[in-house]
Amino acid sequence: MKKVLVIGAGGQIGTELVIELRKRFGNEQVIAADVKDECSEALKTGPYVKMDVLDKEFVRSYIQEEKPTDVYLLAALLSATAEKHPEFAWRLNMEGLFTILDLAKEGYIQKIFWPSSIAVFGPTTPRDFTPQYTVMEPTTIYGISKLAGERWCEYYFNKFGVDVRSIRYPGLISYTSLPGGGTTDYAVDIFYHAKKTNSYTSFLNEESALPMMYMEDAIRATIELMEAPKENVKIRSSYNLAGISFTPKQLGDAIANEKDGFKMHYAPDFRQAIADSWPKSIDDTSAQNDWGWKMKYDLTEMVKTMLENVDISKLN
Ligand code: SER
Repeated sequence: MKKVLVIGAGGQIGTELVIELRKRFGNEQVIAADVKDECSEALKTGPYVKMDVLDKEFVRSYIQEEKPTDVYLLAALLSATAEKHPEFAWRLNMEGLFTILDLAKEGYIQKIFWPSSIAVFGPTTPRDFTPQYTVMEPTTIYGISKLAGERWCEYYFNKFGVDVRSIRYPGLISYTSLPGGGTTDYAVDIFYHAKKTNSYTSFLNEESALPMMYMEDAIRATIELMEAPKENVKIRSSYNLAGISFTPKQLGDAIANEKDGFKMHYAPDFRQAIADSWPKSIDDTSAQNDWGWKMKYDLTEMVKTMLENVDISKLN
């Protein structure tokens, strides 16, 4: 019987992942875990446990008792926040991973999902159509932690047979739960401001092309990878996922097509340097070939869906 534990369930990915996993496998089969005392309304449809992923003893005893078959470990600090708290980011992004990998090695977990990111690439990586295998010299703490994590995942698979699966997510765009602390967050913020004031000041310059993906596609990719037959998952570090590549200007133009008079302004900050070190577009042929990945949402459809659904009361 499948029993899923999602750690970091309160975050941008976690919230929607729990909702979709509960639809597929049943509310009671999917336990949401996060560091907060209480979960959001969206997660109240099933079990919730308060869990600090750095509290190793608690995580170990909880998992040894509950024996979830699948664990999704999403708790992490994103790129921009990690630059402000490098030591904590390193600890949070790495220690939780070791705890979960070891529990799987000891036989308490059957399958692990751990997210990586386009942040594993750096300024020496080819930036257009970035291949699965290429130069990787990340310059952010977040990117360094994700690249190190990828290497550990592959090591645990090769050495101990731990069934760990991973995706290098592009920037993720969604309306259910706000992102926090990422360099790609402008592509979510923009929709709230477009609806509220019909204008937006981007913290990245107009030419900063980055790979992005609509959340529904990202969640589907995640579950498809986790449900793929083990032998099809040939890459045990992390799979490239392409999504849609666009610049702030192109996103602004697509919004202006839907909203008359929408105006973009630009005030790049420290996040510009992070964006400049990341790929502009990604080659995800391996994901397509190995487990049949196919994206659905293009820019126009994503923009329409976001404008229809963002709730501006969430914006402070
Ligand atoms: N979207 C993330 C960030 O901007 C990258 O994984 O930090």
